[in-house]
Amino acid sequence: MRKIFIAGNWKMNMTHLEAVDFIKDLGYKFKNKNDCDVAICVPFTDIESIKKTIKNINIDIKVGAQNMFYEEAGAFTGEVSPKMLKALSVDYVIVGHSERREIFGEKNEVVNKKVKAAFGIGLKPIMCIGENLSIRESGNAEEFVIEQLAECIRGIDKKNISSLTIAYEPIWAIGTGKTATPEDANVMCGAIRKKIGDLFGNKIAEEIRIQYGGSVKPNNATELMAMTDIDGALVGGASMKVDDFLAIINY
Ligand code: PGA
Repeated sequence: MRKIFIAGNWKMNMTHLEAVDFIKDLGYKFKNKNDCDVAICVPFTDIESIKKTIKNINIDIKVGAQNMFYEEAGAFTGEVSPKMLKALSVDYVIVGHSERREIFGEKNEVVNKKVKAAFGIGLKPIMCIGENLSIRESGNAEEFVIEQLAECIRGIDKKNISSLTIAYEPIWAIGTGKTATPEDANVMCGAIRKKIGDLFGNKIAEEIRIQYGGSVKPNNATELMAMTDIDGALVGGASMKVDDFLAIINY
């Protein structure tokens, strides 16, 4: 039985001071009636303060980063390494978010290196895949997403794959208020699971968690989480509002 996994993605929002205030407010109200796994993926500059605050108020929320480079150290001005995140006891790292792909030109090959680097040091990657609107409208979304998946997980050790989280995020649904219908999202998540089964066997396909992301809000979380192949959500905008994020956790 897969445990639901709700992860927030703050993107480039919240100074460390704002982040601490947010976590304190969340902490007062935090109830996790679904006993799901919860994480918040924050800007690098927030990680240390957030980890301390979460420890002080003793709530079970894991912390993730939103990106990293794949090399361990060296002349890569402006980058942050897996080792640096591990040293801060970060649990998760988002790789291949569509904003990284579209704005910063990240290709599947780079995402693949990042997934391998995350596993190499014991970070759990949340790997994003998803099609844009023109691909969806052309009717080739499934083919595109499955190919993206295959390229991003190429050569990953079988022993690691079940601790990968895959986030299916149709680009046209991110930050737009448009959500894929739960049925459409479920069909895609089912196709992703089938591909994992073809590559790694049914046991792993049954274990791996596949999140849906793209305008997840309190009013659609219940329906999405009820789908057979959707095991959680990657939440952008709504993860920065305490009450909305809590409502999604308690969908
Ligand atoms: P959104 O973002 O929930 O604001 O659509 C989701 C994401 O980009 O991960």
